[in-house]
Order: sequence, then structure tokens, then C-alpha cells
Amino acid sequence: MITSLRGFRDILPPESELFARIEAAAREVFGLYGYQELRIPTLESKELFVKSTGETTDIVEKEMYAFTDGGGREVAMRPEGTPGAVRAYIQNNLGQTGRNGKYFYMGNMFRAERPQAGRYREFTQIGAEHIGNPTPAADAENISMLVRFLEEAGVAGCAVVINSLGCAECRKTYRELLLGLLRGKAEKLCEPCRGRIERNPLRALDCKTDGPWLAREAPKRALCQACEAHFTGTQRLLGAAGVNYEVNHSLVRGLDYYTGIVFEVRSGALGSQDAVCGGGRYDDLVKSMGGPAAPAIGWAVGLDRMAMLLKDKPAPDTAPKTFVIAAAKEAEDKAFALLTAVRAAGISADFSNFELSLKSQMRSAGRSGAAFALLIGEDELKTGTCAIKPMKEGGEQFAVSAADAPAKIKELLQR
Ligand code: HAM
Repeated sequence: MITSLRGFRDILPPESELFARIEAAAREVFGLYGYQELRIPTLESKELFVKSTGETTDIVEKEMYAFTDGGGREVAMRPEGTPGAVRAYIQNNLGQTGRNGKYFYMGNMFRAERPQAGRYREFTQIGAEHIGNPTPAADAENISMLVRFLEEAGVAGCAVVINSLGCAECRKTYRELLLGLLRGKAEKLCEPCRGRIERNPLRALDCKTDGPWLAREAPKRALCQACEAHFTGTQRLLGAAGVNYEVNHSLVRGLDYYTGIVFEVRSGALGSQDAVCGGGRYDDLVKSMGGPAAPAIGWAVGLDRMAMLLKDKPAPDTAPKTFVIAAAKEAEDKAFALLTAVRAAGISADFSNFELSLKSQMRSAGRSGAAFALLIGEDELKTGTCAIKPMKEGGEQFAVSAADAPAKIKELLQR
């Protein structure tokens, strides 16, 4: 038997229903904020991710599913959605032709990470990007939409953590300060952090091993006046929107394009992979990818992790309302027509196998969770009726004309 690959999984009912519910909540909330959907490719040129996500990031350095295709092109399965969204924005001239620069996407991403609970090699993200608005109001709107969406989806008990990395200038100053400390303490650093001191010293700040002692010893980040004003402005507006958050100066995020505000949503209920969402400002990315100067902010949630947080909530009721049974061989056509008529009336209906015995079909009806079984047998064929049997204990069977059955069921369901 051929099984799925390690880190790749089947999302089965009822979890798949949770995914659908989360997606529906996203669409509803995003509509309120004027975000429109982008459907972008899963496969892109490898260079797109190298140039945007960043050459020294784990995602690009170690985790990308990249290969040379039959035509000799270097391609990669997308590890995240932001680079594709930015490419689409530039390629389709959305800055000129689009409505407001606000876009969302839903889809599967690929990272060859070591699989563990909440971490898969193929996972699903919903992302929201606002391109072209540099103001704190865009940040506060983007983050408060995230909080509203999590609420609407039923995810509770999460913490919103924010920080500001500052602009390129602030980061340069801070990088030098931090480099000084790290060079002096290289022997104290873990292997990967030591290896990237010069290339990406900031990453040590959110390293699981070195982060805690660096949080105590690292110099405090100093923001330039403009970045400080943006950060406090965003916090003020988050307050106006009633969003609870905490500031954490150690938050750096593992992708290269961030400038200014970065944030995560974390849940203690998730174990070591505790980030439900990550995001931040990327003011220079669109321009650096060949587009117009278009400052931007966005985030992406992991659906697999949101579903983990929701798995103990009552599953949505997807049982069919009715179950149609042909209690005689000749009844198949009428039973099939009834199935069609009930569904056409907007009532869910299922059946098993009209050629099986009445007992076997009744057993399937019980397993389906349907509220009513609709039976057509020899007697019903003769009289043009159908028998309605309530599936709950002690439900008394009665007959109605087959043509009236959908209306009758509707009435019964409304009681
Ligand atoms: P990220 O932090 O790499 O950010 O991923 C966002 C979320 O995707 C994480 O918080 C997590 O819930 C989920 N996730 C990531 N990797 C995995 C995995 N291996 N298995 C399961 N879930 C995972 C980004 O991807 C950025 N594009 C976010 C962004 C949008 N920034 C600006 N705009």
C-alpha cells in the first residue's frame, strides 16, 4: 500500500469541516474590511522566494521544495503567500487598477521542516495583505481584522504580541550594536546562531536557545523618531479599536522582508509550535521586487493550528436531514426522484444502496444521523405516497403523497 509522505496529511471530516468553517468566517470578516480575494499559483520561480523571503532564512535555505522542472527552470512550491501576492500585485499593476490594495488568499504552503505536532510539510494558510498604505491606521486595521476573524472563527485565549523592528536605518544601527555583543559572546551562542552572526545577527533574538539570555543582555532597540511615532500611533489606534496586545521587544520573526511593526498571535494551548499567526510591515519589498514604492503590511494564520484550537468545540452538524430508502426493487426510480425533489427544496438528503435490503438501508439511515427516513416500497408505489419515519426513539411512521413530502419535511424541521 502506498501511504502519504511524512509531514503530509489527509484532512478528514470533521476536521475538514472545521477548515471550511474557518474559511467561511474569514470571508465574512474580510468582506467587512474591504479585502478582496487573490488566487495565486502554488508553484513559482525559485528566485521569487530567494529574493523576497530571504536567502539567509531557514525557509529558503533549508526548507524549500525547490527543483528544476522538465524545461530546466528553477521552480519552488510556495513556502508562504506574501511573495506571490506581491508578484501578482506588481505583474498585474494592481496599484493602478485595483480597488484599495487589500487582498487575502487561502491555500496550501510547503516547507520541508521536521514534522511535529502542529508543524507539517504541507499546511494551509489564510493571509491578508494591505499594499500601498504607509499609515498606522492600515496597521491597526490589519491587526484588528485579524483579531475579529479569530473571534468569529471561535478561537479564544490567544495573545497578540507586537514589536517594531524599525526602518532600514534603525535596523542598521541596531544590527551594529547587537553584532558587537554577539561577536564578544560567540562561544555562548548555539551552533546555528554562531553560523549566521555576520549574515543575520537579529535572528539570534528569537532563537529558542539564545533568545532568553539575549532578552536580558541585548541592548535595547532604539527607533528613529518616525518609526517611534508609527509604533505609538498604531498602538493608540489598536486601543481605539479595543484590541488587547502586549509589546515584546524580543519578537523579530524569521523572514527577511519585515520593516517596522511585526506581530504574532500565540496560544499556550498549542505546545511548542505556539504561533497561530505571524505578520508585519514590509515597506521595501514591493519596490525591491521591481514594483512601485508601495509600503505594505500583512499576516498569515495557520489553519492546521487554528483547527487544533477548535477541535474540542462541537462539530458543525453536517448530518443529512433526510435519508431516502427504496424498500422494493421497483421503487428505485420513484425513490431517486424523491431524493432529487427533497434536495431541490433545499433539504439535505442522502441514500445508501437502493438494491440492498430494507434492514440494511435503515441501518445506514441510522448511521447517517438523519432526522427522517423517507421510504418508498410496494404499497407506496401503488398509492403514490411515501412513508416518513422520524428517526428518533419511538417516532411513528406516517404516509404523505410523494409530491407533498418535501413541504411536509420542511414543516416538520421547522417545529
Ligand atoms: P509565518 O510566520 O512563516 O509567516 O507563517 C504564518 C503562520 O503559518 C504561522 O504562524 C503558523 O500558524 C503557520 N505555519 C507556518 N509554518 C507551518 C508549518 N510547517 N506547519 C503548520 N503551520 C505552519 C508567513 O508565512 C508570512 N507570509 C506572513 C505574512 C504575511 N507577513 C506579512 N504578510
